[in-house]
Amino acid sequence: MAKFVVEQSAPLRGEVTVSGSKNAVLPIMAATILTGEPCEINDVPHLKDVDVMCAILRAMGGKIQEDWTNHTLRIDNSGINTSEAPSDLVQKMRASFFILGPLLARTGRASIALPGGCTIGNRPIDLHNKGLRQLGAVIRVEQGRVDAMIERYKGALVYLDFPSVGATENIMMAATLARGVTTIENAAEEPEIVDLANFLNKMGAKIKGAGTDTIRIEGVEKLHGTHHAVIPDRIETGTFMVAAAITRGDILIKNSVPDHVRPVIAKLMECGAVVNDEVEGLRVRGDLRQLTATNIKTLPYPGFPTDMQAIFMSLLTTVEGESTVIETVFENRFMHATELCRMGANIEVDGRKATIPGDIYRLKGTRVISTDLRAGAALVLAGLIAEGTTEVTEIYHIERGYENFVEKLQGLGAKIERVEDE
Ligand code: EPU
Repeated sequence: MAKFVVEQSAPLRGEVTVSGSKNAVLPIMAATILTGEPCEINDVPHLKDVDVMCAILRAMGGKIQEDWTNHTLRIDNSGINTSEAPSDLVQKMRASFFILGPLLARTGRASIALPGGCTIGNRPIDLHNKGLRQLGAVIRVEQGRVDAMIERYKGALVYLDFPSVGATENIMMAATLARGVTTIENAAEEPEIVDLANFLNKMGAKIKGAGTDTIRIEGVEKLHGTHHAVIPDRIETGTFMVAAAITRGDILIKNSVPDHVRPVIAKLMECGAVVNDEVEGLRVRGDLRQLTATNIKTLPYPGFPTDMQAIFMSLLTTVEGESTVIETVFENRFMHATELCRMGANIEVDGRKATIPGDIYRLKGTRVISTDLRAGAALVLAGLIAEGTTEVTEIYHIERGYENFVEKLQGLGAKIERVEDE
């Protein structure tokens, strides 16, 4: 198994270019099931999760041409010939559940293994199922499988008890081909929802209001092929913003959308980092002032993103004063706190609240486990400032979601290597 070996590094300096968004491209790939015509997707990040989604589509009869020199996928799902998604692939990635809504629309049936829980929380699928049932689907969940049937979706009013990103996406995709109008209330407002809606509208869907808490979808008879460029990854952007601050460096982050990272900008500035929206990208400097504590609370968009919580916590262990972090989106997303404590942090976790005393000299390198994707990135950044050598294991989590992470960090001067563990 491979690991990252990270040495204490000089302040990171230079430019980095953000890849296309993982959490935008995965539902967009699922949405291609809604048409038998070819679709071209540009600015696709080459990630393990994208490979898994390609494998799922291929296993069901789709044809995909991968052009990684140009970060382009050409997907032709005219050959989809089954309603059953391969369980071994589906269980590898929670995002594979996005195929439920589109597959049911396309074939009238769907049989998919439950994606299961994961280290950050239970992650149920009740809201996906509730919404699709309101559109008329008959769904049975039994022995770890979801079996669903429909003749044609029928437009309905769907109120989400929580603005779930995945449920909003699944229901929005399904509703594009429904008879009549669907309204999703208390919908998620994340930029990835807007990107998916833009893609679907280019396919001929009639979606209004994506990016607000009320989305209205007028069903159409048929969707057609199209091409689309995926938005930049806002969590990768945030990761490099924090990399600049934690190493007290100066990084220009290209291909970033400042509007998508407002809470991260605000919190970094509260800590004393300097963030400028320059012509070429976002420039973050951690080298101009002493950095100090702040408090964060994760919330659905446009609140502070749960996916940035672990990464920001690493920074907070290095600033002057005591910070608090409250996680409201996932019930078990503090595994990284234990790992940061192995590195010398003195974080106290009480339920959904963590208290983090900070000190720039606190962290010391040691062997730590990447318990999930963002926890892994957080530990890599901690390793850049920790005294000595940090070994981050189980890095397959990190490789699921960051394209060329090591190369990008090395390009900024980080001392990091990927080595095969004996
Ligand atoms: N929830 C339910 N029932 C449901 C669905 C969700 O109770 O049917 C709960 C979840 O248990 C969780 C909360 O709602 O407590 C939020 O979950 P949501 O459905 O919004 O998350 P998701 O769609 O499963 C996406 C991202 C995650 C990101 C979350 C929140 C993708 C592929 N994944 O997950 O990304 O943390 O939204 O923003 O889009 C990551 O990239 O590292 C990652 C985990």
